[in-house]
Amino acid sequence: MRCECLFFLLIYSLRIDSKSDYQWSYDQDFFNGPQYWGRVVKEWWMCERGQIQSPIDIQPKQLLFDSSIKPIKLDKVQVVSEMVNVGQMIRVRIGYSRARPSVNITNGPLNGYQYRVQRIDFHFGNTTHNGSEHTINGRRYPMEVQLVAFNTDIYPNFTTASKSPHGIAILSILVDFGEETNMELLKMTIATASVTYKDKRVQLAEFEPWRLLPMTRDLITYEGSLTTPGCDETVTWILLNQPIYITKDHFFEWSKLYFSQESQIKAPIGPNYRATQKTNNRLVRTNIQHKTNHNCKLSVGRVFYRANQYSMRKN
Ligand SMILES: *[C@@H]1O[C@H](CO)[C@@H](O)[C@H](O)[C@H]1NC(C)=O
Ligand SMILES: *[C@@H]1O[C@H](CO)[C@@H](O)[C@H](O)[C@H]1NC(C)=O
Ligand SMILES: *[C@@H]1O[C@H](CO)[C@@H](O)[C@H](O)[C@H]1NC(C)=O
Ligand SMILES: *[C@@H]1O[C@H](CO)[C@@H](O)[C@H](O)[C@H]1NC(C)=O
Repeated sequence: MRCECLFFLLIYSLRIDSKSDYQWSYDQDFFNGPQYWGRVVKEWWMCERGQIQSPIDIQPKQLLFDSSIKPIKLDKVQVVSEMVNVGQMIRVRIGYSRARPSVNITNGPLNGYQYRVQRIDFHFGNTTHNGSEHTINGRRYPMEVQLVAFNTDIYPNFTTASKSPHGIAILSILVDFGEETNMELLKMTIATASVTYKDKRVQLAEFEPWRLLPMTRDLITYEGSLTTPGCDETVTWILLNQPIYITKDHFFEWSKLYFSQESQIKAPIGPNYRATQKTNNRLVRTNIQHKTNHNCKLSVGRVFYRANQYSMRKN
């Protein structure tokens, strides 16, 4: 009893007003871990109370086929960008200039809106654990790469969009082990050597985000939230239906990255994923067409496909 009281006192006294000062973590055993995000900072209450949170476990048998979802379009251009170790993850911030226009996402399930890619977040494991946020039929993948974009048709900036309806779209790519590493992911992997500790940053030359995408038109989409505080429920998630690949050796490079600054105790970043959240009967839609379905007159129906199909297909 006494311990419990002390514990809550601790949480209470840690409640801070300035959310930007608060270093949340993925550590389940610590007071700034995911189970407390919604309690320690008032503005992050959705992390605790939200009902359409992310990530989720994607269950192939529950997917609803929707023939109206077009493939996603991502601009095929080079960007100006910078990789940063923000502590909780590795993030690539995308800039833009007259010479280097912003990268936009359109089509797919985005209702005609255009979204600008603001940053790319990397979630990864360690040498013994996988680190994707979304799972497929309970299976966690080694990594997940998230292209986070905001709706530039109706919002002036990312901050406003992240608090507003249809504000954010996240294009998510799962990464599996393979014999070769996706070329663009290899560039990222090499760059991580310059951002071993928190607050380190490095400019990336000749980065083309679209090259991180697998060769597929198939996607899975649902409405959810940011997976980091404040967990705002303004996100249209789009998961591509094939992974890209990384070798184990390259994957291990990501486990040499630290949550802390150079002078501090070395705590690794990975695994940096939030636990899967309840779906609460949300629709998870797909445009995955199956040859066996072609003779059916169904435009909307349940798709039945082998649970392991996801990992069988190569890019
Ligand atoms: C993305 O959209 C912006 C307008 O919001 C435009 O200025 C820019 O040229 C577009 N990017 C590309 C690569 O077409
Ligand atoms: C990897 O992460 C898991 C979960 O946090 C942890 O239990 C395990 O000890 C870590 N493995 C290594 C080699 O650090
Ligand atoms: C981790 O990923 C590997 C490679 O995709 C896979 O074989 C393994 O089953 C995954 N582990 C878990 C616990 O999901
Ligand atoms: C975003 O736009 C809103 C509304 O125009 C403005 O009040 C706010 O200062 C802007 N935030 C940033 C970070 O630019």
